[in-house]
Amino acid sequence: MAVEHDVRDLKLATGGRYRIEWAERDMPVLRQIRERFEKERPLEGVRLSACLHITTETANLARTLQAGGADVVLTASNPLSTQDDVAASLVSHFEIPVYAIKGEDNATYYDHLKRALDHKPHITMDDGADLVSELHKNRTELLNTIVGGTEETTTGVIRLRAMERNNLLKFPVIAVNDAKVKHLFDNRYGTGQSTIDGLMRATDILMAGKQVVVIGYGWCGRGVATRARGMGALVTVTEIDPVRAIEAAMDGFAVAPIAQAAAYGDVFITVTGNKHCLRPEHFKKMKDGAMVCNSGHFDVEIDIPGLKKMAKSVKKVRQYVDEFTMPNGRRVRLLAEGRLLNLSAAEGHPACVMDMSFAAQALATEFARKNEGKLEIKVHGVPERIDQQVSKLKLKSMGIAIDKLTPEQERYLNESGEGT
Ligand SMILES: NC(=O)c1ccc[n+]([C@@H]2O[C@H](COP(=O)([O-])OP(=O)(O)OC[C@H]3O[C@@H](n4cnc5c(N)ncnc54)[C@H](O)[C@@H]3O)[C@@H](O)[C@H]2O)c1
Repeated sequence: MAVEHDVRDLKLATGGRYRIEWAERDMPVLRQIRERFEKERPLEGVRLSACLHITTETANLARTLQAGGADVVLTASNPLSTQDDVAASLVSHFEIPVYAIKGEDNATYYDHLKRALDHKPHITMDDGADLVSELHKNRTELLNTIVGGTEETTTGVIRLRAMERNNLLKFPVIAVNDAKVKHLFDNRYGTGQSTIDGLMRATDILMAGKQVVVIGYGWCGRGVATRARGMGALVTVTEIDPVRAIEAAMDGFAVAPIAQAAAYGDVFITVTGNKHCLRPEHFKKMKDGAMVCNSGHFDVEIDIPGLKKMAKSVKKVRQYVDEFTMPNGRRVRLLAEGRLLNLSAAEGHPACVMDMSFAAQALATEFARKNEGKLEIKVHGVPERIDQQVSKLKLKSMGIAIDKLTPEQERYLNESGEGT
């Protein structure tokens, strides 16, 4: 009999399993951690509730945690990112309870979160802090038994730091996003490539010669802008942070305020973690056929209620494209309902880069378990040795060797004596 679940269709499981195994081939670091976890069982007896995008890579993380002895349940961290075949395989082949259906409505999304919390976790794992938030708002009776949590993304870390500042956070959380092996690679190269992949799958447009406006030049924005340029697009960056704006300019991008760029962009991509970066005043200026999409965590970066309100009519013209006709007759096309484009219309980040993020997740979970009761209640960084360990294993798997300091160099770097 299958473990508890709410997934689209268990008959999809076989295809899901092939895809999970396909991803595993590109996740050598996580596989090595899984093999060690199988022997050492560092998570024995831990109930773990994870709210993550249900993808092939997440399936391999869940298998790793399970191999370590954890009793894992999974719920989706976004209503559109679930891969239904993967959810079915996790239930059928790996006996991991999953509550996630691609396209679920808001009520189902929250019901699924609730069911994941009914597991009474000792450790939470979040991508966007929805589990932690739900726990602190509506399930406070569960807080006592929680040892700690981990958080995967920038937006989640921002929410948690706000909770910490307001003295609301009730257990320690490790900000996996802040590990170097996570944001330097996943946010930049993962989001960069998979957002362009999502854009192309959703629309089938030619990138060459397009005016692409990237809103936000953080880790994700750098990746998206660079990859769009690589495909021949003419890229403009918009920013609110002067340092990042200079960086974009010196990286060779046009930099302009959104009020200006709105008039000439063919495609607008938000990656800020902020709210209403594209608003009615911008939609009004857009060219006929302009496309707006988002790869930031929540669907608030584009003012969708504002877009709906000003439109004369709306038509679904492709699976991931809704066309809004403006009062001036021009059409603005919203992709993937303004949700994470790379996970809605494509498959999210390639496994090769999630290997590092999820290796850091697995090791951060082991760290939280080992330090049960010892961690201060706040948002913690990932210990430097985890960054070092994951990088070394990844380099080895890539067949890349690096140099070691000579004893003379080590002395030189540690002493202040030698000068001019
Ligand atoms: N799609 C994915 O798979 C994926 C992966 C990782 C992170 N994310 C999400 O992407 C978002 C960005 O993450 P990041 O790591 O790049 O964050 P970051 O903090 O490095 O960068 C965000 C940038 O946006 C800028 N910004 C904020 N408001 C702005 C505005 N109104 N106009 C222009 N720029 C503005 C900030 O100054 C900053 O430079 C977050 O929501 C994060 O959770 C998504």
